[in-house]
Amino acid sequence: MADAPDPSLFEKVVNLCKVRGIVFPSAELYGGFRSTYDYGPLGVLLLRNVKQAWWRAMVQLRDDVVGLDAAILSPPAIWEASGHLQNFTDPMVDCRSCKERWRADQIEGACPSCGSHDLTEARAFHLMFRTFAGPVEDEAHVAYLRPETAQGMFVDFAAVLRATRKRPPFGIAQVGKAFRNEITPGNFIFRTREFELMELEYFVPPDEADTWFEYWLAQRQAWHLEYGIKPEELRVRFHEPDELSHYSSRTADLEFLYPWGWGELEGVANRTDFDLKAHAKASGESLEYFDQGSGERYTPFVIEPALGATRSMMAFLLSAYDEDEVGGERRTVLRLDWRLAPYQVAVLPLSKKPELEAVSREVLSIVQPHYMCDLDVTQSIGRRYRRQDEVGTPWCVTVDFETLEDRAVTVRDRDTTEQVRVPIDGLLDEVRRRAVDPAVPVRSPA
Ligand code: GAP
Repeated sequence: MADAPDPSLFEKVVNLCKVRGIVFPSAELYGGFRSTYDYGPLGVLLLRNVKQAWWRAMVQLRDDVVGLDAAILSPPAIWEASGHLQNFTDPMVDCRSCKERWRADQIEGACPSCGSHDLTEARAFHLMFRTFAGPVEDEAHVAYLRPETAQGMFVDFAAVLRATRKRPPFGIAQVGKAFRNEITPGNFIFRTREFELMELEYFVPPDEADTWFEYWLAQRQAWHLEYGIKPEELRVRFHEPDELSHYSSRTADLEFLYPWGWGELEGVANRTDFDLKAHAKASGESLEYFDQGSGERYTPFVIEPALGATRSMMAFLLSAYDEDEVGGERRTVLRLDWRLAPYQVAVLPLSKKPELEAVSREVLSIVQPHYMCDLDVTQSIGRRYRRQDEVGTPWCVTVDFETLEDRAVTVRDRDTTEQVRVPIDGLLDEVRRRAVDPAVPVRSPA
């Protein structure tokens, strides 16, 4: 895929997502609603697994990062201080011929819809969603939906320090919804107006900022690769000075090779002391750190890896999608890492006979407390294997009539389609043996 992205891949994945209940266009009953999407029964599992994989690497396995879940609704004071009210804009142009609107930096002088060069001058379009908190709709009650989760972590910086007694270098991590009134949302869940962000704000002594920037850039690359992105689909691109956000002194994008070409997957930025100093100035509260050991007082610099959970899920889907041949038949298979797959195990009774159903439920009850399982009883076994392959289930457990005699079941591997017979009593151990999680705790990052 790396040299020549398959242009049909995008359509195949979008279609699979819709048909199999991974992602549906939102409000379709009413004709859809402007690039918003609902995560269906399988999509909600996949997205949760992506967020869990991130949280595990960024919080659970580390002793220098704590979590936070800050409010989405926020007062103008936060966004005034952070510079978003002034700077969080995209340049917008109108096509005078067909009246479409575009982001000026995403088109090359001509309207992508009708080809006309008769475009207006670019003007700044503000991306934040504004609403009112309470029943009175006046300026005093204006509130914003957060466009990034980061500000909650800066505003709560002192409270987290006091509560946890952490000292730089340490981080605050957050996963949650963010909202941007994008001029041109699109490419499925790549760019939407409502999406989920996974962000780490890592606070460091100013003279260590460059070292930590390199560290996090490497860590984040390793994470994508560990969970299944292929090395040839991932590259690093540093921002040119004129691309940098208003708060950043240095940013590198981890880019993924989408079916339409290279594009941003995750950003790693050196936000310097911009945000903490801005909030300290606006609030009048000190947001400095006092190092009792050295007697030094300073405002920490911040290194920020920021990844869209929904965009990450899309990259994993694109990367995992495959078609091959099994026993002379074409099949679609999602080669998802078992930790991301919506179901880890599918229990498939060979027939609907009640005696097989009873033992299937017994098998299910053994595995279900530990792994997300599906019990699928309809259609031929071959069709059911195909259906599980299509949604990435790594292990199918088949219960057949022999099971009633020998109390053993067949475990089938998604990728190799190899089957082995194991006793029901040893099934959980067998799944555990296959479900290897190589994650290693990080005790002392350096
Ligand atoms: N706090 C820094 C920040 O928000 P960003 O580059 O604007 O940085 C971070 O966004 C990540 O969020 C992006 O790399 C991308 O993965 C995701 N993202 C940004 N805008 C998005 C959108 N409209 N829809 C889906 N994901 C988006």
